[in-house]
Amino acid sequence: MKKPPRLVVLISGNGSNLQSIIDAIESGRLPATIAAVVSNNPDAYGLTRASKHQIPSVTLDHRDFSDREQYDQALQNTLLKFDPDYLLLAGFMRILGANFIRAFENRILNIHPSLLPAYKGLNTFQRALQNGEPEHGVSIHLVTAELDGGPVIAQGRYDIVPGDSVEDLQTRGHQLEHRMYPQLLIWISEGVIDIENGTIMHYQQPLTEPVNIN
Ligand code: GRF
Repeated sequence: MKKPPRLVVLISGNGSNLQSIIDAIESGRLPATIAAVVSNNPDAYGLTRASKHQIPSVTLDHRDFSDREQYDQALQNTLLKFDPDYLLLAGFMRILGANFIRAFENRILNIHPSLLPAYKGLNTFQRALQNGEPEHGVSIHLVTAELDGGPVIAQGRYDIVPGDSVEDLQTRGHQLEHRMYPQLLIWISEGVIDIENGTIMHYQQPLTEPVNIN
């Protein structure tokens, strides 16, 4: 058994994914520690979730910084104090610069509401509906300097049915996300999935396609 990973979760809003990770830890399913929750938004509800569970939190408001470089540097300094094994982006609505990503290379994960490489960026539900897609999904990927472009580790998918609205997809997507992030972290904590120099290993073999979680 590996040492339980130290996680820092970065949020900007509701923090329902953060909650799913907290719940998995508290129920004993996920051997991990959330060393801190960090938000760029002082009003993020996820900060309340953290305090309800006695998890340290830090708000670093991007509006207090004159440019991205300075913000990223301050964020990096803050995060280093918590000595994280992994940074988990969970609705963190900031683009991180290349220097920041290099400082935590192969240790940053993001959850994105689409079947990457399709639908990078924002408004993925609207765009999938407009394009008449038969299905949509969620990806968890390693963060690289290319936005939503790092290697995909896990994916979950769901059908789009006639009459579906953006809210319907959002609800289905969130339910899936709340299973996916904890499950992936369980696999990481067990060593089933390992990230070695940027290569994602699955049962000690390089991953050839994203692991399916549904
Ligand atoms: C999630 O839907 C995730 O896919 C996206 O941001 C949303 C965050 O939701 N990156 P929450 O704050 O975890 O509720």
